[in-house]
Order: sequence, then C-alpha cells, then structure tokens
Amino acid sequence: MSETLEAPPLCAPGREASARGAAKVLVKSYGCQMNVYDSARMTDLLAREGYAEAASEDDADLVILNTCHIREKAAEKIYSELGKLAILKRERAAQGRETKIVVAGCVAQAEGELVLRRQNAVDLVVGPQSYHRLPELLSRAAEGARLTDTEFSVQDKFHALPDASPAQIRARGVSAFVTVQEGCDKFCSFCVVPYTRGAEVSRKVAEVVAETRRLADAGVREITLIGQNVNAYRGEDEQGRAWPLERLLELLSDIAGVERLRYTTSHPVDMTQGLIEAHGALPKLMPFVHLPVQSGSNRVLKAMNRRHLAQDYLNSVAALRQARPDIALSSDFIVGFPGETDADFEATLDLIRAVGFASTFSFKYSPRPGTPGAERDDQIDEDVKRERLAALQELVAAQRQAFNAATVGREIEVLFEKPGRHPGQVAGKSPYMQAVHVAGGRDLIGRVARVTIAGAGSNSLAGRRVEESGGATN
Ligand code: 5AD
Ligand code: SF4
Repeated sequence: MSETLEAPPLCAPGREASARGAAKVLVKSYGCQMNVYDSARMTDLLAREGYAEAASEDDADLVILNTCHIREKAAEKIYSELGKLAILKRERAAQGRETKIVVAGCVAQAEGELVLRRQNAVDLVVGPQSYHRLPELLSRAAEGARLTDTEFSVQDKFHALPDASPAQIRARGVSAFVTVQEGCDKFCSFCVVPYTRGAEVSRKVAEVVAETRRLADAGVREITLIGQNVNAYRGEDEQGRAWPLERLLELLSDIAGVERLRYTTSHPVDMTQGLIEAHGALPKLMPFVHLPVQSGSNRVLKAMNRRHLAQDYLNSVAALRQARPDIALSSDFIVGFPGETDADFEATLDLIRAVGFASTFSFKYSPRPGTPGAERDDQIDEDVKRERLAALQELVAAQRQAFNAATVGREIEVLFEKPGRHPGQVAGKSPYMQAVHVAGGRDLIGRVARVTIAGAGSNSLAGRRVEESGGATN
C-alpha cells in the first residue's frame, strides 16, 4: 500500500504536550550531502509543527533515519540501527511513553513497505520526494496507522517546505548546502540513484537565488550547490529559458555576503567547456572539483555505462588546470566491478598517477538489486576486491599527503567555521577543502583570513594568521 495524503492534518502531533515538555525530533543523516540538506529541511519543517530538536535518541519522541541505499553495507546499517530503536521504543512503551520511528531517504524509496514488514517498530516510510508531507503522515501515525509514501514530485516538495529562519541558519554554521538539482538520468550500471531519486530535475534559478540570499543574509559565507548530477543543472529562469550551472554560479557570485561557491557532485560527460572556463573567470568559485571517474579502464567504463573514455577525463582535467592552474581534483572510484581484470585495475592506478588527486573516495563494488551490474555472472571475488581497494587507497593516501605537504610554507585564504579541537584554536577550510587549524578566537568564525601554512598532516593543516605572524610569508 502506498498512500498519497492530501487531507489536512488531523492533529498536530508536535504540539501534543509530552510529559517532558515539547515533543522532540532527532533526524539522523546517512550517506551523501543531499541527505544532510534534506535532514535540515525536515528539522525545519517539524520545528514549524512544534517539535524541538533532540540531542540524541534518548531525548527524542520522534526519530527519523534519513537513509542511504548506495551500497549494501549502508542499507544493512539502517536495519541494525532500527533494531536498537525498536528496543528503545518497547522499553519506553512499558513506561507509558510513546516513540515514533520514521525511515526516510533512499532505503525508504527503494524498499517501501518492505521496511514496515522487516521492522515492526517503524511507523512511517517516507521517500526523498515526499518528506514535505511528514506533518500529515505523522498525524495519521498518531492514530495508529503505519504508512508508506514514496511519491515523486520534486517541485511540489520544495514549494511545500518552509524557509529556514535566520536563527536556524546561523545554528548550522557559515557553510551551507543548497540543493539545485535532484535525480539522475545516467543509469550507470552499478548505481541505484536513478531508481531511488528519479529523473534529473533542476530547481528554478529564482528559487536558488532566493535561498542563497536568505542564507547569506543570515551569515552564511560559503554555498555548496548540490545535486546527484549537479553539472547537468538546467534550471529555468523567469522566461522559461534553461540555465547551465556556470551561469547560475556567476549570478550567485554577485550576492552580497557570498564569499565562496562550490558545487558537487559532477559527471565527466557534463563537464562542459563553459563550466571549465568559469573556474578561470569567477574568483569566488573555489579551485576544487569533485569529479567521479570510477575507473581508468575504457572497457570497465563502457561496462559501467559511463559514456566516456579515460582520455576524455584526462582532457577535462587538463582543461580545468589550464583555466585555473591551482585547481585541486577529487574523485570516486569503484574497484571490482564485474569483469574487472588486473589490467583494468592497473589502468585505474595509471589514471590516478596521471592526475594526482587531492582527495578521493573509493569503494568495493557492491551489487545492488535492480541494477544491471548485479545481474552479471562475472562478479569479482571479495578477496580480490579487498586487495585492489587496499592498493588503490595506499596510492591515493600518498597523493593526499603530498598535496597537503605542498601547501606548507604557502599563504592561503581560510574560511573559519568553528572552534578548533583545542582551546584557543579555530578551525576552517582552505580553498582546496583542507581542514586548517590556527590559534585564534571565535570572532574569526565567518571570516576569510590569510594563513601561512606551517605544517601538514594527512587530514589537516596547521597555520598562523598572516596578521599575527607580521605578514611573513615565503
Ligand atoms: N558499489 C560501490 N560503490 C558505489 N557507488 C555507487 N554505487 C556503488 C556500488 N553499487 C559509489 C560511486 C559513486 C559514489 C557516490 O558511490 O563511486 O560515485
Ligand atoms: Fe549513479 Fe551514475 Fe547517476 Fe552518479 S551518474 S548518480 S553514479 S547513475
């Protein structure tokens, strides 16, 4: 059963006084940045319904797991988490206290009612395009219904969601995500996204501008435009003309308060010359691109339905470096796709050596139900996948270390975001997405300042503010 609910809310569950005061919600995010963004929007939506934010499960009357289905491990983790929540729910019920459990995100979309059948404690299953209906669904759940809503309508969702208040924005820091595009039409043969997130849809230019203005007015200084295929962005303007991503970035550059722009995640075939050139033309567009390639073997790329050759990727990287010589590259890799030979894997290592990545994400291929890759009968042995992943990770770790070490002695601009791990320290981000720690106070948060990098670890840099070190650089 899948219900679309159009009836007005039957009651406002958040306003039902619990014995401990206002009802509290915890939204736990798994997986990608799209889920981080959606979790924040769900929290804001439920704040309007009277729910306060809970610090942990122990504190929450409503727990929403915003799930990821990209690899088997991610999906299975949700069921073990639900097992723990079921125990909590039972214990509380014995004390007369109610707990509602919601499964949202991509596991919800992919598995629907199966989630309700696998775990009795779940009250609601709500897909990534339906969560704007949570208040109505929760009203039904308050009456004892167990429901699934996995309808698709991206534009409906954004129109139905409330804007975050300046206080909510400030609480989340000076760097924020803005979803500009959802879904994917590429159908890579390993990937569930086209099935869980649906077809590519772009938000309108005016909507993105309005959201960015609100964020900047509340103190956000860095905006990361996000989408499953963000560089395929084709949002309409007021005249119904479709804008490419670079035009949107140019417009957002002019918004007062916006100091940094980024976008993620991109597909190599949508890396147009126009977008590449924007990296040379827009000073606020940060010199860092996450451009997943998955494999360096043309045979594997073809089997993955990636629609480009290894050389096309290298050409895009060269063009990006020509447009912005200091640009840093990041990528995703999958090892052990069905049929991958030692030679194919070597081709991936060759591509990595040829590019030199600042950071990477790498995974063992995980067969996903319903995808063409899962049907193949030439699956790779787990031990081989493990060995290949270890070899790849050794190479990229050395590259990351070398990239970080190369910044030592340089003077770079850092956007300060939060207090550091130690007292008297403040933490920020370099243009190249490196974490940077310096001695300094909270007054720096939200500011971009020049920092001389004094030391580099594999995960972060240490530096001194240029003003404090007397302007010294080398
Ligand atoms: N197995 C392993 N990794 C996968 N990814 C997507 N699907 C799978 C899968 N079935 C990886 C890709 C993608 C990243 C988000 O997750 O590298 O770019
Ligand atoms: Fe998945 Fe490929 Fe679409 Fe990326 S481009 S979301 S990997 S199908």
